Amino acid sequence: MTLNIKALLQDAAGENYRLHEAHVNPRFSKTLHTIGFDRCYTRSEGQYLWDIQNNRYLDMLAGYGVFNMGRNNPDIQHALIEFLNCDYPSLVQMEAPLLSGLLAEQLKKRMPNQLDYVYFTNSGTEGIETAIKFARCATGRAGIIHARKSFHGLSNGSLSINGDNLFREGFGPLLPGCVEIPFNDLNALEDALASGKIGAFVVEPIQGKGVNIPDDGYLRNAAALCRHHGALFIADEVQTGMGRTGRFLALEHDGDVDPDMVVLSKSLSGGLVPVGAVLLRKWIYEKVFSSMDRSVVHSSTFGQGSLAMVAGLASLAYLDEKNLLENAKHIGAIIGNGLCLLQERFEFIHDIRWRGLMIGIEFAKPGTFSLNCAWQLAHKLNKSLFPQAITIPLLHDHRILTQVAGHHIDVIKLIPPLIINEADAHYFLTSFEQVMVNLHKFPGPLWEVISRIGKSALDQPATVSAGGLGGDNNQHGLQNA
Ligand SMILES: Cc1ncc(COP(=O)(O)O)c(C=O)c1O
Repeated sequence: MTLNIKALLQDAAGENYRLHEAHVNPRFSKTLHTIGFDRCYTRSEGQYLWDIQNNRYLDMLAGYGVFNMGRNNPDIQHALIEFLNCDYPSLVQMEAPLLSGLLAEQLKKRMPNQLDYVYFTNSGTEGIETAIKFARCATGRAGIIHARKSFHGLSNGSLSINGDNLFREGFGPLLPGCVEIPFNDLNALEDALASGKIGAFVVEPIQGKGVNIPDDGYLRNAAALCRHHGALFIADEVQTGMGRTGRFLALEHDGDVDPDMVVLSKSLSGGLVPVGAVLLRKWIYEKVFSSMDRSVVHSSTFGQGSLAMVAGLASLAYLDEKNLLENAKHIGAIIGNGLCLLQERFEFIHDIRWRGLMIGIEFAKPGTFSLNCAWQLAHKLNKSLFPQAITIPLLHDHRILTQVAGHHIDVIKLIPPLIINEADAHYFLTSFEQVMVNLHKFPGPLWEVISRIGKSALDQPATVSAGGLGGDNNQHGLQNA
Protein backbone atom coordinates (compact mmCIF):
# COMPACT_ATOMS: atom_id res chain seq x y z
CA MET A 1 0.00 0.00 0.00
CA THR A 2 1.37 3.46 -0.82
CA LEU A 3 1.91 5.97 1.92
CA ASN A 4 -0.91 8.49 2.34
CA ILE A 5 1.19 11.22 3.91
CA LYS A 6 -1.70 13.66 4.41
CA ALA A 7 -3.69 11.09 6.35
CA LEU A 8 -0.63 10.10 8.36
CA LEU A 9 0.14 13.70 9.33
CA GLN A 10 -3.46 14.20 10.34
CA ASP A 11 -3.81 10.95 12.30
CA ALA A 12 -0.53 11.37 14.18
CA ALA A 13 -0.83 15.13 14.77
CA GLY A 14 0.15 16.04 18.32
CA GLU A 15 2.14 12.84 18.91
CA ASN A 16 5.48 14.67 18.35
CA TYR A 17 6.79 14.71 21.91
CA ARG A 18 5.62 11.23 22.82
CA LEU A 19 7.42 9.85 19.75
CA HIS A 20 10.60 11.83 20.40
CA GLU A 21 10.66 10.85 24.04
CA ALA A 22 10.37 7.21 23.03
CA HIS A 23 12.52 7.12 19.90
CA VAL A 24 14.59 10.19 19.12
CA ASN A 25 15.95 12.62 21.74
CA PRO A 26 14.11 12.56 25.05
CA ARG A 27 16.49 15.07 26.63
CA PHE A 28 15.79 17.70 24.02
CA SER A 29 12.04 17.05 24.31
CA LYS A 30 12.25 17.56 28.05
CA THR A 31 14.18 20.79 27.62
CA LEU A 32 11.55 22.12 25.24
CA HIS A 33 8.89 21.12 27.70
CA THR A 34 10.70 22.86 30.59
CA ILE A 35 10.79 26.18 28.80
CA GLY A 36 7.36 25.81 27.22
CA PHE A 37 8.65 25.52 23.66
CA ASP A 38 6.96 22.15 23.23
CA ARG A 39 4.56 23.26 20.51
CA CYS A 40 3.38 21.09 17.65
CA TYR A 41 3.60 23.05 14.42
CA THR A 42 1.37 21.77 11.66
CA ARG A 43 1.61 24.38 8.91
CA SER A 44 4.11 26.93 7.67
CA GLU A 45 4.19 29.53 4.95
CA GLY A 46 6.69 32.31 4.32
CA GLN A 47 7.69 33.84 7.65
CA TYR A 48 4.91 32.18 9.64
CA LEU A 49 4.26 28.91 11.45
CA TRP A 50 0.91 27.64 12.76
CA ASP A 51 0.55 25.29 15.68
CA ILE A 52 -1.97 22.51 16.11
CA GLN A 53 -4.43 24.98 17.67
CA ASN A 54 -4.03 27.15 14.58
CA ASN A 55 -2.16 29.93 16.40
CA ARG A 56 0.14 31.85 14.08
CA TYR A 57 3.80 32.50 14.98
CA LEU A 58 6.32 34.88 13.44
CA ASP A 59 9.46 32.90 12.71
CA MET A 60 12.61 34.91 13.50
CA LEU A 61 14.76 31.78 13.48
CA ALA A 62 14.09 30.47 9.96
CA GLY A 63 15.19 26.91 10.74
CA TYR A 64 18.64 28.19 11.79
CA GLY A 65 18.82 30.34 8.70
CA VAL A 66 17.77 27.91 5.99
CA PHE A 67 14.57 29.72 4.96
CA ASN A 68 15.89 32.99 3.54
CA MET A 69 13.30 32.62 0.77
CA GLY A 70 10.53 31.81 3.26
CA ARG A 71 9.11 28.50 4.42
CA ASN A 72 7.50 26.34 1.75
CA ASN A 73 8.40 28.88 -0.87
CA PRO A 74 5.83 28.20 -3.65
CA ASP A 75 8.24 28.92 -6.53
CA ILE A 76 10.88 26.52 -5.19
CA GLN A 77 8.20 23.93 -4.41
CA HIS A 78 6.83 24.31 -7.92
CA ALA A 79 10.27 23.76 -9.49
CA LEU A 80 10.77 20.63 -7.37
CA ILE A 81 7.36 19.19 -8.21
CA GLU A 82 7.82 19.92 -11.91
CA PHE A 83 11.22 18.27 -11.81
CA LEU A 84 9.83 15.17 -10.08
CA ASN A 85 7.25 14.92 -12.82
CA CYS A 86 10.00 14.93 -15.49
CA ASP A 87 11.30 11.45 -14.57
CA TYR A 88 14.74 12.92 -15.10
CA PRO A 89 17.67 10.58 -14.34
CA SER A 90 19.43 11.48 -11.09
CA LEU A 91 22.58 10.09 -9.52
CA VAL A 92 23.68 8.20 -12.61
CA GLN A 93 27.13 8.76 -11.12
CA MET A 94 29.06 7.78 -14.25
CA GLU A 95 28.10 11.01 -16.03
CA ALA A 96 28.58 14.75 -15.61
CA PRO A 97 25.14 15.85 -14.33
CA LEU A 98 23.62 18.83 -16.10
CA LEU A 99 21.99 20.37 -13.04
CA SER A 100 25.12 20.68 -10.90
CA GLY A 101 26.88 22.26 -13.88
CA LEU A 102 24.09 24.83 -14.19
CA LEU A 103 24.06 25.61 -10.48
CA ALA A 104 27.87 25.89 -10.34
CA GLU A 105 27.76 28.38 -13.20
CA GLN A 106 25.14 30.48 -11.38
CA LEU A 107 27.04 30.44 -8.09
CA LYS A 108 30.34 31.47 -9.66
CA LYS A 109 28.64 34.54 -11.18
CA ARG A 110 27.71 35.70 -7.70
CA MET A 111 31.20 35.52 -6.19
CA PRO A 112 33.14 38.74 -5.56
CA ASN A 113 36.31 37.27 -7.10
CA GLN A 114 37.42 34.57 -9.51
CA LEU A 115 36.58 31.18 -8.02
CA ASP A 116 36.79 28.50 -10.65
CA TYR A 117 35.14 25.29 -9.51
CA VAL A 118 32.32 24.24 -7.21
CA TYR A 119 32.29 21.11 -5.06
CA PHE A 120 28.76 20.26 -3.89
CA THR A 121 27.99 18.76 -0.48
CA ASN A 122 24.97 17.74 1.58
CA SER A 123 25.44 20.13 4.51
CA GLY A 124 27.44 22.98 5.96
CA THR A 125 29.69 20.79 8.03
CA GLU A 126 30.50 18.64 5.01
CA GLY A 127 31.46 21.83 3.18
CA ILE A 128 33.86 22.70 5.99
CA GLU A 129 35.29 19.15 6.05
CA THR A 130 35.89 19.52 2.33
CA ALA A 131 37.58 22.91 2.75
CA ILE A 132 39.90 21.54 5.46
CA LYS A 133 40.86 18.53 3.35
CA PHE A 134 41.46 20.64 0.24
CA ALA A 135 43.51 23.21 2.17
CA ARG A 136 45.75 20.51 3.62
CA CYS A 137 46.19 18.82 0.28
CA ALA A 138 46.82 22.04 -1.66
CA THR A 139 49.30 23.58 0.77
CA GLY A 140 50.86 20.44 2.24
CA ARG A 141 50.35 21.98 5.69
CA ALA A 142 48.16 20.48 8.39
CA GLY A 143 47.54 23.58 10.50
CA ILE A 144 44.14 25.25 10.43
CA ILE A 145 43.45 28.50 12.27
CA HIS A 146 40.00 29.33 13.59
CA ALA A 147 38.53 32.05 15.74
CA ARG A 148 37.35 31.85 19.32
CA LYS A 149 33.55 31.34 19.44
CA SER A 150 33.55 30.09 15.85
CA PHE A 151 30.93 27.60 14.72
CA HIS A 152 31.56 25.57 11.58
CA GLY A 153 29.54 22.41 12.25
CA LEU A 154 29.86 19.38 14.47
CA SER A 155 31.45 16.57 12.48
CA ASN A 156 35.01 15.77 13.51
CA GLY A 157 36.97 18.20 11.32
CA SER A 158 34.53 21.07 11.85
CA LEU A 159 34.46 20.33 15.55
CA SER A 160 38.25 20.59 15.63
CA ILE A 161 37.91 24.24 14.58
CA ASN A 162 34.95 24.99 16.83
CA GLY A 163 35.69 27.87 19.16
CA ASP A 164 33.64 26.63 22.10
CA ASN A 165 34.95 23.87 24.37
CA LEU A 166 31.47 22.86 25.44
CA PHE A 167 30.91 21.35 22.02
CA ARG A 168 34.21 19.51 22.03
CA GLU A 169 34.10 17.93 25.45
CA GLY A 170 33.95 14.16 25.27
CA PHE A 171 34.66 13.89 21.56
CA GLY A 172 38.46 14.07 21.44
CA PRO A 173 41.06 13.64 20.25
CA LEU A 174 40.22 15.92 17.37
CA LEU A 175 42.31 16.95 14.34
CA PRO A 176 45.90 17.86 15.19
CA GLY A 177 47.30 21.23 14.13
CA CYS A 178 44.25 23.38 14.84
CA VAL A 179 45.03 26.78 16.34
CA GLU A 180 42.52 29.10 18.01
CA ILE A 181 42.94 32.88 17.93
CA PRO A 182 40.67 35.71 19.05
CA PHE A 183 38.20 36.89 16.41
CA ASN A 184 38.87 40.30 14.85
CA ASP A 185 42.54 40.30 15.86
CA LEU A 186 44.98 40.65 12.95
CA ASN A 187 48.07 40.56 15.17
CA ALA A 188 47.04 37.21 16.59
CA LEU A 189 46.42 35.94 13.07
CA GLU A 190 49.84 37.09 11.91
CA ASP A 191 51.54 35.46 14.90
CA ALA A 192 49.75 32.17 14.24
CA LEU A 193 50.57 32.27 10.52
CA ALA A 194 54.25 32.91 11.27
CA SER A 195 54.78 29.27 12.29
CA GLY A 196 54.77 28.37 8.59
CA LYS A 197 52.67 25.30 9.39
CA ILE A 198 49.28 26.79 8.61
CA GLY A 199 47.30 25.61 5.60
CA ALA A 200 44.26 27.83 6.11
CA PHE A 201 42.36 30.30 8.21
CA VAL A 202 38.65 29.40 8.33
CA VAL A 203 36.44 32.26 9.43
CA GLU A 204 32.80 33.35 9.50
CA PRO A 205 32.55 36.91 8.15
CA ILE A 206 30.06 37.52 10.97
CA GLN A 207 30.17 35.02 13.80
CA GLY A 208 26.87 33.27 14.32
CA LYS A 209 27.56 32.71 18.00
CA GLY A 210 27.01 36.14 19.46
CA VAL A 211 26.51 37.90 16.10
CA ASN A 212 30.04 39.31 16.24
CA ILE A 213 30.78 41.73 13.42
CA PRO A 214 34.48 42.38 12.75
CA ASP A 215 36.05 45.82 12.26
CA ASP A 216 36.23 47.29 8.78
CA GLY A 217 39.24 45.92 6.97
CA TYR A 218 39.61 42.82 9.14
CA LEU A 219 38.52 40.32 6.50
CA ARG A 220 40.35 42.08 3.70
CA ASN A 221 43.59 42.23 5.67
CA ALA A 222 43.20 38.70 7.01
CA ALA A 223 42.95 37.39 3.44
CA ALA A 224 46.05 39.37 2.47
CA LEU A 225 47.99 38.09 5.50
CA CYS A 226 47.06 34.51 4.66
CA ARG A 227 48.29 34.99 1.10
CA HIS A 228 51.55 36.49 2.34
CA HIS A 229 52.15 33.46 4.56
CA GLY A 230 51.15 30.85 1.98
CA ALA A 231 47.92 29.91 3.75
CA LEU A 232 44.39 29.86 2.32
CA PHE A 233 41.65 32.22 3.41
CA ILE A 234 38.39 30.28 3.69
CA ALA A 235 35.13 32.15 4.22
CA ASP A 236 32.42 30.15 5.97
CA GLU A 237 29.32 31.82 4.52
CA VAL A 238 27.06 28.92 5.49
CA GLN A 239 24.86 31.22 7.57
CA THR A 240 25.84 34.68 6.35
CA GLY A 241 25.64 33.92 2.62
CA MET A 242 22.66 33.83 0.26
CA GLY A 243 21.71 37.45 0.96
CA ARG A 244 21.28 37.16 4.73
CA THR A 245 23.24 40.37 5.43
CA GLY A 246 21.95 42.42 2.49
CA ARG A 247 24.80 41.33 0.17
CA PHE A 248 25.07 37.93 -1.49
CA LEU A 249 28.10 37.21 0.71
CA ALA A 250 28.77 38.97 3.99
CA LEU A 251 32.42 39.29 2.88
CA GLU A 252 31.32 41.95 0.41
CA HIS A 253 30.69 44.42 3.24
CA ASP A 254 34.46 44.66 3.65
CA GLY A 255 35.34 45.78 0.14
CA ASP A 256 37.59 43.70 -2.07
CA VAL A 257 38.11 40.59 -0.01
CA ASP A 258 39.80 37.88 -2.04
CA PRO A 259 38.88 34.47 -0.56
CA ASP A 260 40.48 31.22 -1.75
CA MET A 261 37.39 29.22 -0.87
CA VAL A 262 33.81 30.13 0.02
CA VAL A 263 31.51 27.64 1.74
CA LEU A 264 27.74 27.96 1.31
CA SER A 265 24.86 25.82 2.57
CA LYS A 266 21.62 26.43 4.53
CA SER A 267 19.44 28.68 2.32
CA LEU A 268 21.11 27.57 -0.89
CA SER A 269 18.21 25.17 -1.43
CA GLY A 270 15.57 27.37 0.18
CA GLY A 271 15.58 24.98 3.13
CA LEU A 272 13.79 22.25 1.21
CA VAL A 273 16.67 19.88 0.44
CA PRO A 274 20.03 19.44 2.22
CA VAL A 275 22.80 21.06 0.19
CA GLY A 276 26.17 22.76 0.42
CA ALA A 277 28.75 24.17 -1.96
CA VAL A 278 32.46 24.91 -1.76
CA LEU A 279 33.75 27.39 -4.33
CA LEU A 280 37.48 27.28 -4.88
CA ARG A 281 40.37 28.44 -7.02
CA LYS A 282 41.64 26.37 -9.90
CA TRP A 283 45.11 25.70 -8.47
CA ILE A 284 43.55 24.22 -5.30
CA TYR A 285 41.30 22.00 -7.42
CA GLU A 286 44.30 20.87 -9.45
CA LYS A 287 46.28 19.87 -6.39
CA VAL A 288 43.41 17.77 -5.03
CA PHE A 289 42.10 16.20 -8.23
CA SER A 290 45.57 15.95 -9.70
CA SER A 291 45.20 12.97 -12.03
CA MET A 292 42.54 10.71 -13.57
CA ASP A 293 43.10 8.27 -10.72
CA ARG A 294 42.33 11.05 -8.28
CA SER A 295 39.41 12.58 -10.19
CA VAL A 296 36.93 11.44 -7.52
CA VAL A 297 39.38 11.34 -4.60
CA HIS A 298 36.89 13.42 -2.63
CA SER A 299 33.22 12.76 -3.34
CA SER A 300 29.93 11.78 -1.78
CA THR A 301 27.05 9.72 -3.14
CA PHE A 302 24.38 12.38 -2.75
CA GLY A 303 26.70 15.35 -3.29
CA GLN A 304 25.10 16.68 -6.48
CA GLY A 305 21.59 15.40 -5.78
CA SER A 306 19.16 16.63 -8.41
CA LEU A 307 16.54 17.88 -5.97
CA ALA A 308 19.16 19.95 -4.18
CA MET A 309 20.43 21.37 -7.48
CA VAL A 310 16.92 22.23 -8.70
CA ALA A 311 16.08 23.86 -5.38
CA GLY A 312 19.38 25.77 -5.57
CA LEU A 313 18.64 27.13 -9.04
CA ALA A 314 15.10 28.08 -8.01
CA SER A 315 16.35 29.74 -4.80
CA LEU A 316 18.87 31.92 -6.63
CA ALA A 317 16.23 32.92 -9.18
CA TYR A 318 13.82 33.85 -6.36
CA LEU A 319 16.44 35.82 -4.47
CA ASP A 320 17.11 37.93 -7.58
CA GLU A 321 13.56 38.28 -8.80
CA LYS A 322 12.18 39.46 -5.47
CA ASN A 323 15.19 41.64 -4.72
CA LEU A 324 15.52 40.02 -1.31
CA LEU A 325 18.96 41.48 -0.63
CA GLU A 326 17.40 44.93 -0.71
CA ASN A 327 14.55 43.78 1.53
CA ALA A 328 17.03 42.32 4.01
CA LYS A 329 18.81 45.67 4.15
CA HIS A 330 15.57 47.65 4.46
CA ILE A 331 13.82 45.53 7.11
CA GLY A 332 17.09 44.93 8.95
CA ALA A 333 17.50 48.70 9.28
CA ILE A 334 13.94 49.12 10.61
CA ILE A 335 14.48 46.45 13.26
CA GLY A 336 18.06 47.49 14.08
CA ASN A 337 17.25 51.18 14.41
CA GLY A 338 14.06 50.42 16.35
CA LEU A 339 16.06 48.32 18.79
CA CYS A 340 18.61 51.12 19.20
CA LEU A 341 15.77 53.41 20.31
CA LEU A 342 14.66 50.82 22.85
CA GLN A 343 18.23 50.52 24.08
CA GLU A 344 18.00 54.13 25.28
CA ARG A 345 15.03 53.22 27.49
CA PHE A 346 15.91 49.77 28.82
CA GLU A 347 19.09 49.34 30.77
CA PHE A 348 19.42 45.58 30.33
CA ILE A 349 20.03 46.21 26.62
CA HIS A 350 23.74 46.66 26.11
CA ASP A 351 24.35 46.57 22.37
CA ILE A 352 22.53 46.16 19.08
CA ARG A 353 24.48 45.00 16.06
CA TRP A 354 23.28 43.98 12.65
CA ARG A 355 23.99 43.56 8.99
CA GLY A 356 20.83 43.13 6.96
CA LEU A 357 18.70 40.50 8.66
CA MET A 358 21.38 39.07 10.93
CA ILE A 359 20.72 40.91 14.15
CA GLY A 360 22.20 40.50 17.63
CA ILE A 361 20.74 41.99 20.81
CA GLU A 362 23.24 41.87 23.65
CA PHE A 363 22.25 42.29 27.29
CA ALA A 364 24.48 43.24 30.22
CA LYS A 365 24.40 43.92 33.95
CA PRO A 366 22.39 47.08 34.63
CA GLY A 367 23.21 49.87 37.08
CA THR A 368 19.93 49.92 39.03
CA PHE A 369 20.32 47.95 42.26
CA SER A 370 17.22 45.76 42.02
CA LEU A 371 17.81 44.91 38.36
CA ASN A 372 21.43 44.18 39.11
CA CYS A 373 20.25 41.70 41.78
CA ALA A 374 17.91 40.10 39.24
CA TRP A 375 20.78 39.77 36.76
CA GLN A 376 23.05 38.15 39.35
CA LEU A 377 20.31 35.79 40.47
CA ALA A 378 19.59 34.61 36.94
CA HIS A 379 23.28 34.05 36.18
CA LYS A 380 23.77 32.19 39.44
CA LEU A 381 20.95 29.79 38.62
CA ASN A 382 22.21 29.07 35.10
CA LYS A 383 24.69 30.95 32.93
CA SER A 384 22.42 30.67 29.92
CA LEU A 385 19.20 31.55 31.69
CA PHE A 386 18.99 35.30 31.26
CA PRO A 387 18.44 35.51 27.49
CA GLN A 388 15.76 32.84 27.82
CA ALA A 389 13.92 35.45 29.88
CA ILE A 390 13.41 37.18 26.56
CA THR A 391 12.89 34.27 24.15
CA ILE A 392 10.33 32.59 26.41
CA PRO A 393 7.85 35.49 26.72
CA LEU A 394 8.39 36.35 23.06
CA LEU A 395 7.11 32.88 22.24
CA HIS A 396 4.47 32.52 24.96
CA ASP A 397 2.97 35.99 24.93
CA HIS A 398 3.68 37.22 21.42
CA ARG A 399 4.11 34.06 19.36
CA ILE A 400 7.50 35.02 18.01
CA LEU A 401 10.15 32.33 17.65
CA THR A 402 13.70 33.51 18.45
CA GLN A 403 16.91 31.95 19.71
CA VAL A 404 19.76 32.57 22.12
CA ALA A 405 22.96 33.15 20.15
CA GLY A 406 25.34 30.79 21.96
CA HIS A 407 26.45 29.10 25.14
CA HIS A 408 26.77 31.30 28.17
CA ILE A 409 26.35 34.54 26.31
CA ASP A 410 23.62 37.09 26.83
CA VAL A 411 22.77 37.62 23.20
CA ILE A 412 19.56 37.00 21.28
CA LYS A 413 19.90 36.43 17.57
CA LEU A 414 17.32 37.26 14.91
CA ILE A 415 17.69 35.60 11.50
CA PRO A 416 14.18 35.72 10.01
CA PRO A 417 13.32 34.84 6.42
CA LEU A 418 14.44 37.67 4.12
CA ILE A 419 10.86 38.08 2.92
CA ILE A 420 9.57 39.57 6.19
CA ASN A 421 7.77 42.89 5.79
CA GLU A 422 7.45 46.18 7.63
CA ALA A 423 4.38 45.01 9.57
CA ASP A 424 6.35 41.99 10.86
CA ALA A 425 9.23 44.27 11.85
CA HIS A 426 6.92 46.59 13.79
CA TYR A 427 5.14 43.67 15.42
CA PHE A 428 8.48 42.34 16.58
CA LEU A 429 9.52 45.73 17.95
CA THR A 430 6.31 46.34 19.92
CA SER A 431 6.39 42.78 21.28
CA PHE A 432 10.03 43.08 22.28
CA GLU A 433 9.29 46.42 23.94
CA GLN A 434 6.54 44.78 26.00
CA VAL A 435 8.94 42.02 27.05
CA MET A 436 11.49 44.66 28.07
CA VAL A 437 8.86 46.51 30.15
CA ASN A 438 8.12 43.29 32.05
CA LEU A 439 11.77 42.33 32.35
CA HIS A 440 12.56 45.67 33.95
CA LYS A 441 9.99 45.03 36.72
CA PHE A 442 11.81 43.12 39.43
CA PRO A 443 10.33 41.45 41.34
CA GLY A 444 7.60 40.65 38.85
CA PRO A 445 5.77 37.75 37.21
CA LEU A 446 8.34 37.30 34.44
CA TRP A 447 11.10 36.86 37.00
CA GLU A 448 9.04 34.24 38.81
CA VAL A 449 8.86 32.23 35.60
CA ILE A 450 12.59 32.64 35.03
CA SER A 451 13.43 31.60 38.55
CA ARG A 452 11.20 28.50 38.26
CA ILE A 453 12.89 27.49 35.01
CA GLY A 454 16.34 28.17 36.44
CA LYS A 455 15.59 25.97 39.42
CA SER A 456 14.34 23.15 37.28
CA ALA A 457 17.53 23.49 35.22
CA LEU A 458 19.48 22.98 38.43
CA ASP A 459 17.37 19.92 39.21
CA GLN A 460 18.18 18.34 35.84
CA PRO A 461 21.58 19.66 34.87
CA ALA A 462 22.27 17.05 32.24
CA THR A 463 18.98 17.67 30.54
CA VAL A 464 18.94 21.36 30.47
CA SER A 465 22.54 22.21 30.05
CA ALA A 466 23.28 19.71 27.32
CA GLY A 467 20.39 20.34 25.07
CA GLY A 468 18.79 23.51 26.10
CA LEU A 469 19.61 26.40 28.32
CA GLY A 470 23.28 25.67 28.29
CA GLY A 471 23.27 24.00 24.93
CA ASP A 472 23.75 25.89 21.82
CA ASN A 473 24.28 22.61 20.42
CA ASN A 474 24.20 23.08 17.00
CA GLN A 475 21.02 23.53 15.80
CA HIS A 476 20.22 21.87 18.33
CA GLY A 477 19.93 23.37 21.62
CA LEU A 478 17.96 26.47 21.63
CA GLN A 479 20.41 28.59 19.80
CA ASN A 480 22.81 27.39 17.31
CA ALA A 481 23.29 28.57 13.95
C1 LIG B 1 28.69 29.28 10.02
C2 LIG B 1 28.27 27.84 10.00
N1 LIG B 1 29.08 26.93 9.44
C3 LIG B 1 28.75 25.63 9.39
C4 LIG B 1 27.57 25.19 9.95
C5 LIG B 1 27.24 23.73 9.91
O1 LIG B 1 26.21 23.50 9.00
P1 LIG B 1 25.33 22.17 9.12
O2 LIG B 1 24.52 22.29 10.36
O3 LIG B 1 24.53 22.17 7.85
O4 LIG B 1 26.28 21.04 9.17
C6 LIG B 1 26.70 26.09 10.55
C7 LIG B 1 25.46 25.62 11.17
O5 LIG B 1 24.78 26.29 11.88
C8 LIG B 1 27.06 27.45 10.58
O6 LIG B 1 26.27 28.36 11.15
